Amino acid sequence: MQIQENRSLKKYNTFGIDVCANYFTEFNSESQLEEALEFNRQQTTNNKLLTLGGGSNILFTKNFDGLVLKNEIKGIEIVNEDEEFIYVKAGAGENWHRFVLYCIENNFCGVENLSLIPGNIGASPMQNIGAYGVEIKDVFYCLEAYHLQEKKLVTFNLSDCAFGYRESVFKNKYLNQFIITTVTYKLNKQPTFNTSYGAIEQELEKMGITQLNVKAISNAVINIRSSKLPNPKEIGNAGSFFKNPEISSHRFKELKQVFPTIVGYQLPNNNVKLAAGWLIEQCGPKNGTSWKGFRNGDAGCHGKQALVLVNYGSAKGNEIYSLSTQIVDSVKEKFGVELEREVNII
Ligand code: FAD
Ligand code: EPU
Repeated sequence: MQIQENRSLKKYNTFGIDVCANYFTEFNSESQLEEALEFNRQQTTNNKLLTLGGGSNILFTKNFDGLVLKNEIKGIEIVNEDEEFIYVKAGAGENWHRFVLYCIENNFCGVENLSLIPGNIGASPMQNIGAYGVEIKDVFYCLEAYHLQEKKLVTFNLSDCAFGYRESVFKNKYLNQFIITTVTYKLNKQPTFNTSYGAIEQELEKMGITQLNVKAISNAVINIRSSKLPNPKEIGNAGSFFKNPEISSHRFKELKQVFPTIVGYQLPNNNVKLAAGWLIEQCGPKNGTSWKGFRNGDAGCHGKQALVLVNYGSAKGNEIYSLSTQIVDSVKEKFGVELEREVNII
């Protein structure tokens, strides 16, 4: 294990923000992690820590004055099997999409709708990643996480994680208390396809698919995502910058009377989830303009998906953050709805 000082984090975050960490190291085992934590206790002044996966859900607004721990724990293995399910354990440092491809190759079903989400296994339970009608909670079995205070591994089962929409205990109650080292997923041996969401069926038809299979669904999801989400290798971004807000159905009816084209989805609890992308598109820096496609210096709002803020090159983290604040304020003023950031602000 090697500790580096004043390391640039530019290539470690998909926004491509050029900040430095006082200290930086990678670990690929529990013992290397313990070694790094010991260094942090002994050598750093404030003991500040940040665990990093693929850096695809983070916005750095300043240099990090502590130790960045890049999780590189690898490995994918089948750990159990019964008639219906196969249990696959993956190291937190494995790339998420590589894991999805592994499942598809082996015909293990359940994660195909989550194809092409950037980032690593370890962060997948953090915000219960989701797309196209599926969330991690639907395939989650358990995880192991290192308890920083008690210096030991703890196992979390499904109910321990308190998964919600882009939420888990690791994002709130246990924030900065655990480092996830492995995640075990429970995958279906028999296909249970979920094609009802968004444009999947339309895309499958366009692709000429008559016999459904996990590979075809994965490809359909990849095609849809690639058509609207910017590739972080080309334009810096962290996916949706905000969550889709939830409001009461009564409030939705009121808004619909004033804004007939407003986009909302009925939830099982009778509330309505609003499409934040639509709200943002309807607002702008001045009356009659839209944030969608807006650019100020290198900070901007994507032209094909208003929910995605982008860095065209050398934007500073606080420029992106300040744009996000302007967007929050304008949406609040026009619709009375408060947008909540999904991206972790550091
Ligand atoms: P990082 O950004 O490295 O970390 C995210 C947070 O988790 C940080 O707070 C970090 O400290 C913490 N963390 C990371 N690893 C660990 C660990 N091992 N233990 C404890 N804490 C940890 N998300 C979706 O849900 N659905 C989408 O459809 C989606 N699409 C996206 C599209 C694009 C183009 C991009 C750039 C992002 C998208 N995202 C999406 C967001 C992002 O990909 C996910 O949140 C992903 O899970 C983040 O993984 P990461 O490894 O990059 O996490
Ligand atoms: N819309 C607009 N203008 C826009 C963008 C969207 O009007 O600029 C409206 C359209 O009506 C569109 C609807 O919003 O039909 C929904 O848009 P989209 O299908 O692109 O999905 P989203 O709600 O914007 C969510 C997730 C994504 C996930 C997709 C697919 C959140 C915050 N975002 O986006 O997750 O991939 O659904 O399931 O829930 C992420 O979390 O980073 C992420 C990309």
